[in-house]
Amino acid sequence: MRIDFRAIMIFLIVVIIQIPARGVVKGSPHDLSAISSGDACSFCHTPHGAQPKTPGWNRKLSTAVYTIYQSSSLEAKVGQPTGSSKMCLSCHDGTVALTHTRKGSPGGVYITPGQANLGTDLSDDHPISFVYSDSLSTKDSQIRLASTLPDEFKLDRSGELQCTTCHTAHDNQYGDFLVMSNQRSAICVTCHDLKDWSSSIHEESAVSVANSQAKHIRESKYDTVADNACLCCHRPHSAQGKQRLLHFRKSEENCLSCHDGSVAQKDLRQEFSKPSAHNVFKYHDVHDLRESVLTSPEHVECADCHNPHAVQNTVTQAPVLSGLMRNVSGVTATGAFSNEAKLEYEVCFKCHGDNPNRIESKITRQITQTNTRLEFDPSGPSFHPVVSSGINNNVPSLISPMTVGTMIYCTDCHNSDNTSNVKGPHGSIYKPLLAYNYETSDDTAESEFAYGLCYRCHSRNSILNDESFPKHRKHLEEKIPCSVCHDAHGISSAQGTSISNSHLINFDTTIVSSDPKTGRLEFIDTGVFSGECYLTCHGKDHSPEDY
Ligand code: HEC
Ligand code: HEC
Ligand code: HEC
Ligand code: HEC
Ligand code: HEC
Ligand code: HEC
Ligand code: HEC
Ligand code: HEC
Ligand code: HEC
Ligand code: HEC
Ligand code: HEC
Repeated sequence: MRIDFRAIMIFLIVVIIQIPARGVVKGSPHDLSAISSGDACSFCHTPHGAQPKTPGWNRKLSTAVYTIYQSSSLEAKVGQPTGSSKMCLSCHDGTVALTHTRKGSPGGVYITPGQANLGTDLSDDHPISFVYSDSLSTKDSQIRLASTLPDEFKLDRSGELQCTTCHTAHDNQYGDFLVMSNQRSAICVTCHDLKDWSSSIHEESAVSVANSQAKHIRESKYDTVADNACLCCHRPHSAQGKQRLLHFRKSEENCLSCHDGSVAQKDLRQEFSKPSAHNVFKYHDVHDLRESVLTSPEHVECADCHNPHAVQNTVTQAPVLSGLMRNVSGVTATGAFSNEAKLEYEVCFKCHGDNPNRIESKITRQITQTNTRLEFDPSGPSFHPVVSSGINNNVPSLISPMTVGTMIYCTDCHNSDNTSNVKGPHGSIYKPLLAYNYETSDDTAESEFAYGLCYRCHSRNSILNDESFPKHRKHLEEKIPCSVCHDAHGISSAQGTSISNSHLINFDTTIVSSDPKTGRLEFIDTGVFSGECYLTCHGKDHSPEDY
C-alpha cells in the first residue's frame, strides 16, 4: 500500500484545528504549550517542511547511537530505533530539547531526568524497532501470532513493533499514554503467551503489594499481585536487571522484595541466612535462563528451582515434582536434559548430577561419588528409593505407612529445619541442608536427636532392638555414628558390588581402615540379616566379624 503523505498533511491541518478542542493532547504531559509558544501539536507536527514520509513530523531527530536491548533468549532481530520511535526518542532520550523542532533552534528545556528520560541506553527497555511477524512465534513459542493482535496494537508499515505499538502519542486516558489499561498486564499478555501462566499463583494472587520492600512495586499503579502481574517482577523501561527486564540486577532480589514476609506470607530471606543454605546471595550474573545446565558454573538462584510464571499449589507424591516447581528445566535419571522436569530429583540433578562444577562431599568414604545421579541409579547395589522404589524387601525399621515400596524425595531429607514455617531446601540449621539433625562425627552418643533424620523414617526402637543387623545397638552404644557404615544416598553400579555394598554400606575411611591381619576393608553380604566384615575400627580388628 502506498501512503499518501500529502493527504495526511492536509488531513493534519484539518485535525490540528479540531483535536485540541477535544482536549486529548491538551493538558496531558504531551501538551508543551505551557513551556513555549505554540499549540499542543506543533512540537511534534507541522503541516509544512515536515520530515519526509512521516505524518507531518516536526521534530529535530536525535543523532544518538543507542545501546539496544540484548538477551540470550531474544529471538527478534533488534537494531537501532527506526520509524516513529525516533520521534518519541527525540524528546525521551534526553539529547534534544523539547522545543527543538525541525526549523527551531537548539537548546531550551530537556526532558526531566527521571523515569520519562529513557536515555540513549535502551538495553534496559522493552525491545523496539524489530519486525514482529508470525514467523517469530515459530522461534519463540511463547509469543502470540502477530496477525492476531487486536486493533489497539499497531505495528508500523514495515511490520515493526515501535513505542507506538504500546503507546499512543495523543491519548492519555489510561495514563502513560498506553493503548489500553495494563491492569492484570492486559497489554503484556496480548503478545506474550507464557506457558502455564494462566491460573498460576502470581497471575491470581489478590494479596496487596502495599508493603513491598521495593519502592516501585509498593508505588505501582495497582494494589494486588494479580493486577500488577508481570510488573511484579518486570518493568518495560529502566530495568536494573537488563536482560529480561527485571526490576533488580541481583536475581534473588526480584523475589525477596516480596518473599520476605512483606507481601508474601513467608520470610525466605532468613532461611537463606541459615548455616547451611542454597546461598543465592553468593552468586551474581552467573545464572542464565539459557544456560547449559550440564556444564554451567557453580551457582544457585530462585529461578533455577522455580519458574515464576508457572508456580501453582498442588499436592504431589514422590517422585512427582511439586506444583511450586512446575515448568522448570531438569536432567533425567539417564542424564538427558529436559526442558520441563516432571520429577523433583531431575531439578536437583542439574547441579548435583553430571555437572562437573557440582559441590564436594564432606565425608571421606571407601567409594567416593558426588554425582548424585549415579548414587541413586536403580542399577546400583543399594540406594535410597528416590529414583525408583527400593530393592531390599527386608527393612523392618520402616515406620508405617511407609513400606519397602515407598519412594521418597530428596527434599524428604534436604529441607528447612522448620518446614511448618517455610518448606523447601532453602536453608537449615542442620548441615548439609538437612530437615533434621544427623551427626556424622565419631564418638557420638546415640539419641533420638543425634540421628533425628534417620529416625523420622526408621524406627529407633527397631534399630536399637537389632531387628535387622544384630549388632546395631552394640555399635551405637560404642558411639559409632550411622555414617561410619551407611552412605545416605546410594552406591553407583560402576563402583560398588551387590556383595560389598548392599544395605547402603560404604565405610567412612577416616574412622574405619583395613584389617591389618587380612589387609581387607570389606563387607560381605551372606544373605538376609547375615554378613561379615573385614576391617579395623577403634583398634578393634574384624578379621572377620560375622552376624
Ligand atoms: C508528543 C508528540 C506529538 C504530539 C504533541 C502530537 N502528535 Fe500527532 N503523532 C505523533 C506521532 C509519533 C505520530 C505517529 C504515530 C504512528 O506512526 O503510529 C502521530 C500521528 C498523528 C496523526 C496521523 C494519524 C495517526 O494517528 O497515526 C495525526 C492526524 C496526528 N498525529 C494529529 C495530531 C494532532 C492534531 C495533534 C495536536 C492535538 C498531535 N497530533 C499532537 C506525535 C505527536
Ligand atoms: C516534544 C517532546 C516529546 C515527544 C516527541 C514525545 N514525548 Fe512523551 N513526554 C514528553 C514530556 C515533556 C513528558 C512529561 C515528562 C515528565 O513528566 O517528566 C512526556 C511524558 C510521556 C509519558 C509519561 C506520561 C505520564 O502520564 O506521565 C509517556 C508514556 C510518553 N511521554 C510516551 C511518549 C511516546 C510513546 C512518544 C512517541 C510517540 C512520545 N512520548 C513523544 C515529551 C515528548
Ligand atoms: C511493549 C510495550 C511498550 C513499548 C514497546 C514501549 N513502552 Fe513505554 N511503557 C510501557 C508500559 C506498560 C508503561 C507503564 C509502566 C508502569 O505502569 O509502570 C510504559 C511507560 C513509559 C513511560 C513512563 C515512564 C516509565 O518508565 O514508566 C515512558 C516515558 C515511556 N513508556 C516511553 C516509551 C518510549 C519512548 C518507547 C519507545 C522507545 C516506549 N515507551 C516503548 C510499555 C511499552
Ligand atoms: C505488541 C506485542 C508486545 C507487547 C504488548 C509486549 N511485548 Fe514483550 N516482547 C514482544 C516480542 C515480540 C518480544 C521479542 C520476543 C523474542 O525475541 O523471543 C518481546 C520481548 C520481551 C522480553 C524480553 C525477552 C527475552 O527473551 O529477552 C520481555 C522481558 C518482555 N517482552 C516483557 C514484556 C512485558 C512485561 C510486557 C508488558 C509491559 C510486554 N513484554 C509487552 C512483544 C510484546
Ligand atoms: C514473579 C516474578 C515474575 C512474574 C510475575 C513474571 N515474570 Fe517473566 N520472568 C521472571 C524471571 C525471574 C525471568 C528470568 C528467568 C530466568 O532467568 O531463569 C523471567 C523471564 C521472562 C521472559 C523471558 C523468558 C522466556 O521464557 O523466554 C519473558 C518474555 C517474560 N519473563 C515475560 C513475562 C510476562 C509477559 C509476564 C506477565 C504475563 C511475566 N513475565 C511475569 C519473573 C517473572
Ligand atoms: C510482587 C510480589 C511478589 C514477587 C516480586 C514475587 N512473588 Fe512469589 N508470590 C507472591 C505472593 C503474594 C504469593 C502467594 C503466597 C503468599 O501470599 O504468601 C506468591 C507465591 C509464590 C510461590 C508459591 C508459594 C506459596 O506459598 O504459595 C512461589 C514458589 C513463589 N511465589 C516464587 C517466587 C519467585 C521465584 C519470585 C521471583 C522470581 C517471586 N515469587 C516473586 C508475591 C510475589
Ligand atoms: C542451579 C544449581 C542447583 C540446583 C538446581 C540445586 N542445587 Fe543444591 N547446591 C547448589 C550449590 C551451588 C550449592 C552450594 C551452596 C552454597 O554455595 O552455599 C548447593 C548445596 C546443596 C547442598 C549442601 C549444602 C551444604 O551446606 O553443603 C544440598 C544438600 C543440596 N544442595 C541439595 C539440593 C537438592 C535436594 C536440590 C533439588 C531440590 C538441589 N540441591 C538443587 C546448586 C544447586
Ligand atoms: C535419606 C536421606 C537423603 C536423601 C533422600 C537425599 N540425601 Fe543428600 N544427603 C543426605 C545426608 C545425610 C548427607 C550428608 C551425609 C553424607 O554424605 O552421608 C547428604 C549429602 C548431600 C550433599 C552434600 C554433598 C555430598 O555429596 O555429600 C548433596 C549435594 C546432596 N546430599 C544432594 C542430594 C540430592 C540431589 C538428593 C536427591 C537426588 C539427595 N541428596 C537425597 C541425606 C539424603
Ligand atoms: C524419608 C524417609 C527416609 C529417611 C529420612 C531415611 N530413610 Fe532409609 N529408607 C527409607 C525407605 C523407604 C527404605 C526402603 C528401601 C528399600 O526397600 O530398599 C529405606 C532403606 C534404608 C536402608 C536399607 C537399604 C537397603 O538396600 O538395604 C538403610 C540402610 C537405610 N535406609 C538407612 C538410612 C539412614 C542411615 C538414614 C539416615 C541418614 C535413613 N535411612 C533415612 C526411607 C528413609
Ligand atoms: C534448590 C532449589 C530451590 C531454590 C534455589 C529455591 N527454592 Fe523455593 N522451594 C523449593 C522447593 C523444593 C520447595 C518446596 C516444594 C514443596 O514442598 O511443595 C520450595 C518452596 C518455596 C516456597 C513456599 C514456601 C512455603 O512454606 O509455602 C516459596 C515461597 C519459595 N520456595 C520461594 C523461593 C524463593 C523466593 C527463592 C529464592 C530466593 C527460592 N524459593 C529458592 C526449591 C527451591
Ligand atoms: C557398624 C555398622 C553400622 C552402623 C553404625 C549402623 N548400621 Fe545400619 N546396618 C548395618 C548393616 C551391616 C546392615 C545390614 C543388615 C542386613 O540386612 O544384613 C544395616 C541395616 C540397616 C537398615 C536396613 C534394615 C532395617 O533395619 O530396617 C537400616 C534402616 C539401618 N541399618 C539404619 C541405621 C541407622 C539409622 C543407623 C544409625 C542410627 C545405623 N543403621 C547404624 C550396619 C550398621
